[in-house]
Amino acid sequence: MKTSLKLAVTLIVTALSFSIYSCGNQATTEQEEMPADMKPQEPTQEELIALGEYKVTTMGCHDCHSPKIMTPEGPMPDPERLLSGHPADETLPASDPKLTAPGAWILMNQSITAFVGPWGTSYARNLTSDPSGLGNWTEENFKIAITEGWYKGIRDGRRLLPPMPWPNMRNLSDEDVHAMFVYLQSTKPISNMVPEPLPPAGS
Ligand code: HEC
Repeated sequence: MKTSLKLAVTLIVTALSFSIYSCGNQATTEQEEMPADMKPQEPTQEELIALGEYKVTTMGCHDCHSPKIMTPEGPMPDPERLLSGHPADETLPASDPKLTAPGAWILMNQSITAFVGPWGTSYARNLTSDPSGLGNWTEENFKIAITEGWYKGIRDGRRLLPPMPWPNMRNLSDEDVHAMFVYLQSTKPISNMVPEPLPPAGS
């Protein structure tokens, strides 16, 4: 009895897996024979912009590139100055070189757009579509800047300073870089000429 029950169960399971398997197979064949007008289409400009905005927001670009305003939930990107970089007219207090010597501290301002460390002072740059931002950039410049860490996307120029997290972006796909660039070129142009970095105090 026991053996025939086992046999029956085995037969049912085998029959079921065959039918599941053949269903799967059918789906693959149907997909292969999909008419051309049902194949995935190139994204529209609007879809690219939405994807780029999603990437730029979830990858944390606002953390450093948008000046902040204080809200009940803490410092938040200022909606009027999104992605415009360190405000050129913001004066910062002098920092004590002992505090930021190698092995000591890294400091930042309360807008989280200026950073002082053993490399000197660096300022998050303007990523908006204004000419003082990325307005005159090519997509190739953008790709080289964010995936290889070169200032203005020009190899042989200077390397981007901390804390720009370009090494995290090394393996970004061309599609993602493209969507981010298209989005950034669609942003409200904000004129803000970010200052050049300063060498470490006393050097
Ligand atoms: C932790 C802070 C921080 C984050 C997060 C950050 N950046 Fe930066 N970024 C900087 C700083 C600071 C600089 C300026 C470095 C310098 O001058 O060498 C910079 C420079 C750049 C540059 C080069 C601009 C130029 O003129 O050469 C680009 C492009 C850029 N960031 C894009 C992005 C994008 C896109 C993101 C999000 C995916 C991002 N950054 C996230 C801090 C940050």
